[in-house]
Amino acid sequence: MKVSLTVNGRIREVDVEPRKTLLDTLREDLALVGSHTGCEHGVCGACTILLDGAPVRSCLMFATQADGYEITTIEGLAPAPGELSVLQDAFCETHGMQCGYCTSGMILAAHSLLEQTSEPTREDIVDAISGNICRCTGYGQIVEAIELAAERLRKANSPRSIETSQIADKVNSVAAQGGRR
Ligand code: FES
Ligand code: FES
Repeated sequence: MKVSLTVNGRIREVDVEPRKTLLDTLREDLALVGSHTGCEHGVCGACTILLDGAPVRSCLMFATQADGYEITTIEGLAPAPGELSVLQDAFCETHGMQCGYCTSGMILAAHSLLEQTSEPTREDIVDAISGNICRCTGYGQIVEAIELAAERLRKANSPRSIETSQIADKVNSVAAQGGRR
């Protein structure tokens, strides 16, 4: 069947068997291998992607069911090639990963939480990642990473910091004009 998927902002046409899962389609047909294959029956969360912003297990969906939805995979979170999102960066900083197998699913589940609230409580965070299993970290550093990212995003989005960056833009543009004279 021909399916048109919107993945990380791009429309991708794929020809798949109706029984092919969204996870296998992302990995095998679109080379987006950041979504991991774990249990393949909806338990571990390693295959988590965002479907219209909500975390979903891509091993439990057929690719044909995703037609018409916005799909976000871990490859779509970074602002530019070679860069990391605030959340990805926080995971690196707090060592919120070891083998990395659960990491893409964890980050997408956390990303969805931070889209809904800028001040998540520890309980909110634990609840948001409760469907994602990590065999390595003991979860403490993952929770720490999400708290750190939430704090940094709050600071970056505070009116004062936006004002400061607007002033910096203005100063830079005046300086550039002065340089041209
Ligand atoms: S691989 Fe999908 S939940 Fe485990
Ligand atoms: S870092 Fe290994 S499973 Fe989470």
